Amino acid sequence: MKIGIIGAGFIGRAVAQLALAAGHEVMLSNSRGPQSMSSVLSGIRGVQVGTAQEAAQFGESVLLAIPFEHYRSVPAQWLEGKTVMDANNYYPNRDGHIPVLDRFETTTSRLVAEHLSQSKVVKVFNAILAPDLTQDARTRGAPDRRALPVAADDPAAKAQVIALLDEIGFDAVDAGGLDESWRFERAKPAYCIPLDKEGLKAALAAAERQVELPARW
Ligand SMILES: NC(=O)c1ccc[n+]([C@@H]2O[C@H](COP(=O)([O-])OP(=O)(O)OC[C@H]3O[C@@H](n4cnc5c(N)ncnc54)[C@H](OP(=O)(O)O)[C@@H]3O)[C@@H](O)[C@H]2O)c1
Repeated sequence: MKIGIIGAGFIGRAVAQLALAAGHEVMLSNSRGPQSMSSVLSGIRGVQVGTAQEAAQFGESVLLAIPFEHYRSVPAQWLEGKTVMDANNYYPNRDGHIPVLDRFETTTSRLVAEHLSQSKVVKVFNAILAPDLTQDARTRGAPDRRALPVAADDPAAKAQVIALLDEIGFDAVDAGGLDESWRFERAKPAYCIPLDKEGLKAALAAAERQVELPARW
């Protein structure tokens, strides 16, 4: 599969490495353009770089991994019809306050899906730290294989992403549609905690809509 990645930071680069190792083609992009990505090119063998628009066009699936406050800067028409993997998290101190999120009325991925209204948005890769992505990937069946939560409204896109997770080293737990994805947003029990499938299911079930855990989570 061709995977375009918008955002060449910690998460974008980690997913790129794993996807390349699994045999996929990957194009990374950032906000400044490919001329600013020579270290990315030399650091990740086999990766391609391009503008954000080129990465969007390149990808059959596209990973959105930019600071959440910038999600509206990605033109929706670039991603029409595509599966968009949304790794973003809302940090009010970084992104500015978004009242509907502060009031727990919607989810970060629902906002992204409302912006990318012709795309199939799948929330994934938000609930694992970037260094853990490369450190915790395991072959299928490994006893210590970690599970990651996935949410989407489109069943086929969700299945495609679950298959990708399996290829790159992770089990998956289907956490429902985008409106349920608050269960693994920031400050919930499943957020960035290494868990196997059963542990992750329990953590998702234990999440409370209006309860945010302390920052150490
Ligand atoms: N870091 C983690 O462990 C982690 C884990 C899970 C989820 N996340 C979430 O994933 C997202 C990205 O986090 P990160 O830590 O990878 O961020 P980061 O290291 O700060 O990198 C952000 C990247 O996004 C690019 N970017 C910003 N605006 C853009 C735009 N409009 N078009 C194209 N590229 C743009 C930046 O490019 P320039 O440098 O050229 O501006 C940079 O390459 C955040 O929402 C974060 O909360 C992070």
